[in-house]
Amino acid sequence: MRPKANALGQGALTVVLCAALVNAYAQGDAKRGEYLAKAAGCVGCHTEDKEAAVPYAGGRALKTPFGTFYGPNITPDPKTGIGSWTEADFIRAIRLGERPDGSNYFPAFPYPSFSKIIDSDLRDLWAYLRTLPPSARPSKEHDLWFFFGWRWVVTLWKWFFFTPGPFTSLPGLSDTANRGAYLVQALGHCSECHTPRNFFGGPKTSRFLAGGKGPDGKNVANLTPTGLKKQSDRELVDFLTTGITPDGDVPAEAMGEVIRNTTSQLTPSDLNAVIGYLRTLPPLPSEKK
Ligand code: HEC
Ligand code: HEC
Repeated sequence: MRPKANALGQGALTVVLCAALVNAYAQGDAKRGEYLAKAAGCVGCHTEDKEAAVPYAGGRALKTPFGTFYGPNITPDPKTGIGSWTEADFIRAIRLGERPDGSNYFPAFPYPSFSKIIDSDLRDLWAYLRTLPPSARPSKEHDLWFFFGWRWVVTLWKWFFFTPGPFTSLPGLSDTANRGAYLVQALGHCSECHTPRNFFGGPKTSRFLAGGKGPDGKNVANLTPTGLKKQSDRELVDFLTTGITPDGDVPAEAMGEVIRNTTSQLTPSDLNAVIGYLRTLPPLPSEKK
């Protein structure tokens, strides 16, 4: 009889432990989420561009060829923010680019990249957003050109250009380079600016990270080895933490903001992983200007 009771006891213990683990997982870790939010630059697009603006309370204008988008309030205010959302609503928004009512988000919200964020990281991000002070600042309507303002048109766009699903390790790359790939492709959404787009605003996947015209029509650097071969790892670390190039140049504001909000906030090992991954990309020629 004894071994049986013992096995039962162990079984029960395993169940309790698993439940505790699932629970710890389910709740998400707000501290980790805060770091992930930095790695993803969430604050930039969701905070008004002025002194003393409330972080994450929305209002930032994002100019694109399709009109001006305004990052919405994503603080936990139930009326003006996303306080009435569930974690599942949040995961669906980021993974699938869908509102809780099922309509589409515009890809000015970089969910085509964020879709690659893995589930446990999404839970941590959600846990972090829940800790923000709620702000009653109302979100602003987007100001879009005729026809691009229709959310259903995005269904077509998604059909052509959007493949949802979390990041999976790339075969043939080291663990470090894979960490870098995850940071670049998913959280850092570097390709949203560094991969050129076609007429419909879809990424030219054959020119992944090869630069060209960015979303605001200005030139964006080629991040494949063709573009970065002249720079040492040390120089890239300096650029991505301080925003200063070896010849003392200051980067265009779009990248300056990425450096301030995102890359300068990464741990040294994550930053090295990002650079390590960029070095593994197939070298692509820069677009002719
Ligand atoms: C490049 C700018 C940009 C970045 C970076 C960005 N967002 Fe957004 N986000 C937007 C825009 C624009 C919208 C509105 C899209 C729409 O209305 O279709 C949006 C919408 C959202 C929504 C839906 C809000 C609502 O009321 O329906 C959530 C949630 C959200 N973002 C969370 C995040 C999180 C979390 C991050 C970081 C992981 C992030 N965003 C990073 C631009 C951005
Ligand atoms: C909002 C648009 C945007 C995003 C997102 C973005 N970049 Fe950039 N990046 C730029 C622009 C524009 C430049 C060109 C700056 C200049 O020439 O002054 C640039 C330049 C660079 C350079 C300098 C290249 C050189 O030849 O000197 C590096 C390195 C770089 N980006 C890395 C990244 C990484 C890594 C990410 C993702 C974490 C990223 N960028 C995300 C817009 C962006």
